[in-house]
Amino acid sequence: MLRTHNCGELRLQHEGMKVVLAGWVHALRDLGGIRFLLLRDRYGLTQIVPGDDPSVKEAFDQLGSEYVIRVEGTVRKRPKEAVRRDLPTGEIEVVAHRVEVLSEAEPPPIYVDRDEETSEELRLRYRYLDLRKLRMTRNIVMRHRIVQAVREYLNARDFIEIETPILIKSTPEGARDFVVPSRLKKGKFYALPQSPQLLKQILMVAGFDRYYQIARCFRDEDLRADRQPEFSQIDIEMSFVEREDVMNIAEGLVAHVIKKVFGVEISQPFKRLSYEEVMDRYGTDKPLTYFGMEIEDLTEVFSDSRLNFVREALKKGAVVRGFAAPIGESSLSRKKLAEYEEVAKAYGLGGLIWIRKNRNLKSSVDKHDRPVAEVAAESLSLKEGGFALISVGERKRVSTVLGELRLKVAQELGLLENEVYDFLWVVDFPMFEWSEEEGRLVARHHPFTMPRLENVEKNDPLEIKALAYDLVMNGVEIAGGSIRIHRSDLQRWVFEKIGLSREEAESRFGFLLQAFKYGVPPHGGIAFGLDRFVMLLLKERSIREVMAFPKTASGTDLMMGAPSDVSEELLQELGIRVSQG
Ligand code: AMO
Repeated sequence: MLRTHNCGELRLQHEGMKVVLAGWVHALRDLGGIRFLLLRDRYGLTQIVPGDDPSVKEAFDQLGSEYVIRVEGTVRKRPKEAVRRDLPTGEIEVVAHRVEVLSEAEPPPIYVDRDEETSEELRLRYRYLDLRKLRMTRNIVMRHRIVQAVREYLNARDFIEIETPILIKSTPEGARDFVVPSRLKKGKFYALPQSPQLLKQILMVAGFDRYYQIARCFRDEDLRADRQPEFSQIDIEMSFVEREDVMNIAEGLVAHVIKKVFGVEISQPFKRLSYEEVMDRYGTDKPLTYFGMEIEDLTEVFSDSRLNFVREALKKGAVVRGFAAPIGESSLSRKKLAEYEEVAKAYGLGGLIWIRKNRNLKSSVDKHDRPVAEVAAESLSLKEGGFALISVGERKRVSTVLGELRLKVAQELGLLENEVYDFLWVVDFPMFEWSEEEGRLVARHHPFTMPRLENVEKNDPLEIKALAYDLVMNGVEIAGGSIRIHRSDLQRWVFEKIGLSREEAESRFGFLLQAFKYGVPPHGGIAFGLDRFVMLLLKERSIREVMAFPKTASGTDLMMGAPSDVSEELLQELGIRVSQG
């Protein structure tokens, strides 16, 4: 070994010991002409000071930031005034007898020794430098620990880890496929998996009973802070189970990881709400719930209001809904109100009704219908010093607008906390939704999701609920899954509903339908977005902060320069001609 210890290891108990350390020059300091440095590796930082040997002093003078060096020296207790409590090695330093340069470094284009704002572009282009930052190193190491805890939990419960292929046939899950051309079968393409959905179901047909995989998934979709074209799932499938069984395993998994990695006990079971309920109460299917401020229905309250615009709207089937914010005397300024109204207008709603309660009640409708404002305030339990926002219009729009405003207001009132574990199961999703774009019904989760059997007879397919569930953590969807269809007649019925002909179904999913002819256990599963889960656990704002080599918002790998051109020969072998533009 080139070293006896790492840079995070030495303590007072090592005083007097001869050691060899190796690492990067993190910071070079100059104290009255004497240079000393902090040596860094993955494990930490150790202070190195030159001994009396002039050759060592000389060697120090030659060093630069990020040089890789090897230091032989003796551990010494630091003088009291030099002790650094913020460093685990802060009570000692190493007096160097010999310094050897293993690799020189050009001046780095981004700071490694501080967590300063650097442009995303530079950070991604020089990712190996960015990853040297203590925070980034910690994130990647913590991610590893989280994955180990996941494996530990699942291994102990009879799950087996099985790898599924990356070059597969397209298994659409709502996003566009990435495709890979085949050389041996010119003109044909493999697709990269959007998830191992169908393969894990086939593993259940094969009898493996309990499967998991830390699976790489690929989706060609528009990117956001919590989306990447290539991401990882903790992918799980189980046989002979019902919805509760899968949810219990998933919940236990989350609790185990948080206990094991962060030492925190979280309370179980997690809350469960139906899709309809979360939409009504929070205006979104991934709500933050811990600060209250729930949306309430006021249609009844406004049903015989004197407000003309409300009466007209109600005749057309509109709803009236609103929420009360607890504090904020000064928060509801004219300017703020205008901002809130903008949100409503952006969704095509006329505006908002507001009520403010200081000593007296004041509202935007005082002139035309004061009593209705009083009843509404009462109904929303509006407290002294608080205010309420009320919206009138089509139910879904009203919910969405109030959902957004609820978050905005909570943030402005300082009600959002960093240190929470806010978990919520959303269940009973609609099986289908109407796609304006495609002009047909589409499966909301995927077409292999089991509908609630007692719903199948419903005339309006939009009313059919699915045995699907999403897990929401701190307002982010971290996992989704369902009980699957294991009967071919039902599967055919779903394909029909989403307008997939027998031939199309056969050509796209024939292999699954074929497998389903030979004895299928009832089964179900779930997949966690690993990157999102890690992001939330580490309180990061973007999944890019917890992935070693993420891509930019336009899907580029700036470090490697991908995507890139390929040679003319290769294109020819693949039978591909590129038409520019
Ligand atoms: P779904 O599509 O809901 O389900 O994906 C499961 C979880 O994966 C995460 N996720 C993403 N993370 C980062 N970047 C993306 N582009 C991205 N897309 C999704 C989310 C999501 O909750 N086969 C089903 C699972 C099942 O039914 O078992 C599936 O893939 O956190």
